[in-house]
Amino acid sequence: MEMDLKNHRSSSVFFPAVVLLWLRCATAEIHFHEFVVQATAVKRLCETRSIITVNGQYPGPTIEARNGDALVVDVVNRAKYNVTIHWHGIRQLRTAWADGPEFVTQCPIRPGGSYTYRFRIEEQEGTLWWHAHSSWLRATVHGAIVVYPKLGSSYPFLNPDREHRVILGNSVNGFAINFQIVSNWLKLTWSSTGEWWNEDPVRVIERALRTGADPNVSDALTINGQPGDLYKCSRKETTVFPVRSGETNLFRFVNAALNSELFVGVAGHSMTVVAADGVYVKHFNATILMLAPGQTTDVLLTADSPAGCYYMAAHAYESARDTTFDNTTTTAILNYLDPNGYPYAPPAKVVANRTRLPAFPVLPDFNDTCAAYAFASRFRSAVPVTLPGPVDHHLFFTVGLGLFDCPAGKVCGGPNGTILTASMNNVSFQTPTRASILEAYLRGVPAVFTADFPAVPPVRFNYTAESVSRDLWQPTVATKVYQVKYGSVLEVVMQGTSILTSEDHPMHIHGYHFYVLATGFGNFDRRRDAARFNLVDPPLRNTVGVPVNGWAVVRFVADNPGAWLVHCHLEDHMSWGLAMVFLVENGVGESQSLEPPPADLPPCV
Ligand code: C2O
Repeated sequence: MEMDLKNHRSSSVFFPAVVLLWLRCATAEIHFHEFVVQATAVKRLCETRSIITVNGQYPGPTIEARNGDALVVDVVNRAKYNVTIHWHGIRQLRTAWADGPEFVTQCPIRPGGSYTYRFRIEEQEGTLWWHAHSSWLRATVHGAIVVYPKLGSSYPFLNPDREHRVILGNSVNGFAINFQIVSNWLKLTWSSTGEWWNEDPVRVIERALRTGADPNVSDALTINGQPGDLYKCSRKETTVFPVRSGETNLFRFVNAALNSELFVGVAGHSMTVVAADGVYVKHFNATILMLAPGQTTDVLLTADSPAGCYYMAAHAYESARDTTFDNTTTTAILNYLDPNGYPYAPPAKVVANRTRLPAFPVLPDFNDTCAAYAFASRFRSAVPVTLPGPVDHHLFFTVGLGLFDCPAGKVCGGPNGTILTASMNNVSFQTPTRASILEAYLRGVPAVFTADFPAVPPVRFNYTAESVSRDLWQPTVATKVYQVKYGSVLEVVMQGTSILTSEDHPMHIHGYHFYVLATGFGNFDRRRDAARFNLVDPPLRNTVGVPVNGWAVVRFVADNPGAWLVHCHLEDHMSWGLAMVFLVENGVGESQSLEPPPADLPPCV
């Protein structure tokens, strides 16, 4: 995708918050950006819609920085919605005020308002991303964050010849036409999926929450904002990645889709995975990647196939049974350049002439949990790990869906006239509306939250049973946090439940990266499963897939004071309350304490 350098300038002006860092590390830079959140007319699939963008771009501008740099992003809200921006995967050490989730670390930027996010990138390298953290605005308000090694240091692999960013997302409108791929060939079946968002995603989720129903699924998936060749009226807009024979390319994948975990592959090429979630990993080869929303994966791909055009394609991994989902396939094209730098063939012509269609990758079936699990299990830390310990808090959190009965006199749109919901440890997270949790904590505002999030489920049951008693389907709605001292070691078992339906839940923890010690299926049983913990080289991630009908165990040190949202990165689940908050207290002295709130922190009323 193209770089936006328009609003980007770097400077060495005095900036108190990073002055210490600055002196320690004379090569660090401060990057200034202006993000104007605004309604923008965007044409996709032959229709023009007004969507919310940053600076008129979809996907939004890429932020480029080096490990150790600081960022100052002035966000100006010219849209009609409240907005906040989250810097997904940036640790925000001591700067929780810049983390972004609405009513957790800040009140939203109201229409007409602005807020300047100031934060540092400390010991992180690779691909991260930013996105809106209000309602469903992140559908179109998102972009990549690329963190290069410090000046004078390099990648822990041979320098690639070329770099590409690949942002996987949802399209916002249009007609989805379903092509079925048969033995590496395309046969047109022209069956419209019927589901398409003819309104903006904020309205889609608002209506769903009002009625209790499942929100509409998106109409199309996208690669760098373009649906690709398999939809009606989309061919001219397909994303093309130029490659040159023999060269090694670094592809940085981000799954920015709202509700779709995605398989992605490139015809005729295998990939070497080198990083995930902004952390280097032990290299491994793969022909298919799987990314859950929130996750990033960096791969090396050598252009060693015969010169030509090759499809990159992505479609959903859908682990829930009997559900509707966006089952379309998005494509981009890898186009080899000839020795003079001219494209091997203009892709539009290649596609128009069906006798010379580019080769198509073979993607796993939508419900291929084995493929998804096998891929996720291959990640290992690149460097030996000294695991934090001993564990101060052994936590066991259920993660799953639920149903409320419909209040008398109301008509509800959930299954059999109910209301869909979701919870952790039977608490469905209610987002505050009067103050952010972090401000309420520090200023002593009463009745915004309670610090009694349970360490274990209130009732133990067979979490993954075929049928869980109906009595356990209705969670409590509340704003509960789990409070810990600075420096505590937390080990969290996240246990999926089969209430209503079991499903893979990509769980994201703000403000931290955590070691994934193990994942598995069924009910977690410490006596049996502790033997499977990887205590040698567990991967460090910010988003982990809790396998469908299974569990994941993660461990981290609470060394970052603040209020940190933990949630499922499937946007519908988060909207239903699949979230909680870790409240981490200040430690001793300035270096272990939250910085004071910025003067321009958006007011709450
Ligand atoms: Cu990328 Cu709270 O999210």
